[in-house]
Amino acid sequence: MKRIIVLAITLSLVMAQLVSAQERLDEDRLTWFKDAKLGIFIHWGYYGVNGIGESWSMYHKRISYQDYMAQGAGFTAANYDPQAWAKLFKKVGARYAVMTTKHHDGVSLWDTQYSHLNVKEKTPARRDLVAPYVEALRSEGLKVGLYYSLCDWSHPDYEVVFPRPNTRKDYPQRGQKNLYPWERFVRFYQGQLKELSRRYQPHLYWFDGDWEKSSEQWRAKGLKDSLLAWSPGVIVNSRLKEEGDYKTPEQGVPVVRPEGPWEFCMTMNDNWGYYPSDTNYKPKAQIIRTFVEVIAEGGNLLLNIGPKPDGTIAPEQEERLLALGDWINKHNEAVFETKAGLPQGHFFGPTLLSKDNSKVYLCLYGQPNNYINLKGIQNKVMGIKVVGTDQTLTFERNGGAAWNNIPGILRIEVPKKEYLDEYVTVLEVSLEGSLNLYRGHGNAVELND
Ligand code: GLC
Repeated sequence: MKRIIVLAITLSLVMAQLVSAQERLDEDRLTWFKDAKLGIFIHWGYYGVNGIGESWSMYHKRISYQDYMAQGAGFTAANYDPQAWAKLFKKVGARYAVMTTKHHDGVSLWDTQYSHLNVKEKTPARRDLVAPYVEALRSEGLKVGLYYSLCDWSHPDYEVVFPRPNTRKDYPQRGQKNLYPWERFVRFYQGQLKELSRRYQPHLYWFDGDWEKSSEQWRAKGLKDSLLAWSPGVIVNSRLKEEGDYKTPEQGVPVVRPEGPWEFCMTMNDNWGYYPSDTNYKPKAQIIRTFVEVIAEGGNLLLNIGPKPDGTIAPEQEERLLALGDWINKHNEAVFETKAGLPQGHFFGPTLLSKDNSKVYLCLYGQPNNYINLKGIQNKVMGIKVVGTDQTLTFERNGGAAWNNIPGILRIEVPKKEYLDEYVTVLEVSLEGSLNLYRGHGNAVELND
């Protein structure tokens, strides 16, 4: 009996150690991601030829399967210059990019051996478009992300809600005739992922379309283990059911800070792919504010572009990337040397905190009046300056009851007009020591001078 108890205790100790080792490994895998702040999402596919909704136009029967696929004839990639893309992404401060290797429509942007429905065989592009993208990102020191839609509306073993011709001839499935359709599909999609992993060794997989099946149907747990074996250290977004490493809110910026690592993806107009009739572009100010609000809550922004079928980026999109890039470059230290900011209540606007907790960054929209107000800072303030300029600001502490550990407000001088940023002005508040916040409700001051 005694031996059994000793054995059980030893075993549970070993297990606990293994679990914490695994947690440490997970932490390490995500380190670069947590500091990345900006990624570029790239939706590139057939849909840009007619300028219609990516894959969904088929789903909603706005176009027939045949007409949708006929767009392939116009997908030329004739001016595709991934090196120029990567240089642009790097210039604007992105640390990673994520490109659609296969959207829900099932068209592969690489020359997969698992289906003839790929741009090399079906389009005038006539080549693998993923390899040069991966190479270009690596050469600029950017992390490589691959978007892959789990659901596949072309594969004959994947049922769809719209009429579709028999597509079997596009899917060589030697020796798989007697398998259940779903088993064939799982082999197909996991085969493609093995192919992508082995060839391109991505740092990140961005799955999509998991909502159509259950975790068991996707065999999500087994797949995650395989992905890690094929591309050690790879991280996976939240759309592989519960196997994801980070959350992916989409289009609506979260109001409450999500728990754990997260990334917010957003289009510049209202569509993911190239859609020239959609001119509802977000103003640069909105994109920059959104970026600030996302990083102030500890997330990354995955900002989308939808290149044209020839591989060029529309001027409206490039312009917006460059404006964001200028802002980031000017505020580099506040963006990359920081983490999520103060809890609510201290400052009315987004804030960031330096990694060592010795600096608070206050983000100002527009032109403040009278004075700028920061509450609840116990530390002595060493100095305040406008980031990206040489202007220092005067400040005064007022009110409070220092002897009762209730700090007053910090009344900060408004920067001169010429020092205000066109989009978001950032003030750096340097503290003595590590941030010490007053989080009280306030109380009577029981002992006065
Ligand atoms: C949604 C859409 C998809 C798009 C993705 C990007 O999941 O289904 O079309 O690619 O969002 O986040």
